[in-house]
Amino acid sequence: LNKIIIAIDGFSSTGKSTVAKQLAKNLNYIYVDTGAMYRAVAYFALEHDLIGDDFFKEDALVNRLEDISINFKFNIEAGFAEVYLNGKNIESAIRTLRVSKFVSPVATLSAVRRKLVEQQQLMGKDKGIVMDGRDIGTVVFPEAELKIFMTASAETRAKRRYKELLDRGHNLSYDDVLENVTTRDHIDSTREDSPLIKAEDAIEIDNSDLTIEEQLETIVGLANRLI
Ligand code: C5P
Repeated sequence: LNKIIIAIDGFSSTGKSTVAKQLAKNLNYIYVDTGAMYRAVAYFALEHDLIGDDFFKEDALVNRLEDISINFKFNIEAGFAEVYLNGKNIESAIRTLRVSKFVSPVATLSAVRRKLVEQQQLMGKDKGIVMDGRDIGTVVFPEAELKIFMTASAETRAKRRYKELLDRGHNLSYDDVLENVTTRDHIDSTREDSPLIKAEDAIEIDNSDLTIEEQLETIVGLANRLI
């Protein structure tokens, strides 16, 4: 069997990770959530007072990048790999609205991106990987055999994220979630280094009205032609 790299990019809360996880399971591939890696760096910055509501000590963060070690460990019960920062499981700690608020500014820093992209490329060197993020098809694996660009209306996305956060027991308003999703998308698509754009050879899927099963069927079909 021919192992390939599947790159899934798109705006916030398009349901990329849900589909990517399932896809990896179906194909028996490794799944990597690169957003979790940027969130881990933002979490570190918050923990060390390097970023806050009215400050961002960019140079200090860059100087501490070597103190940041990010790993994934498969959790059998969860059925996917969870993210660890310096040995500590932060899978749920990075999903708060607070981390979501500071992750995009952190992800604009080239030094941060260089470090994470290098690690991502290593994880994919043997192929057989599904990776989701913002720059996977454009920067991390421009040679990926299959590139998907997921879209959905901003409202659909905010509703999904809102429900997800409520289900996890977070107490917040729909407007805060919508505001976060819109702001993040704006920063992500206008930043200088590796902005979120559809790769020329990516296949666009608007999933506003598609079930997870329908999305999977489409992508598995595309992948099977290449494997
Ligand atoms: O995928 P998720 O929404 O968890 O990503 C969080 C943030 O991390 C994004 O809004 C973006 O700022 C950043 N990110 C990125 N490049 C990636 C993945 C995520 O800049 N490949």
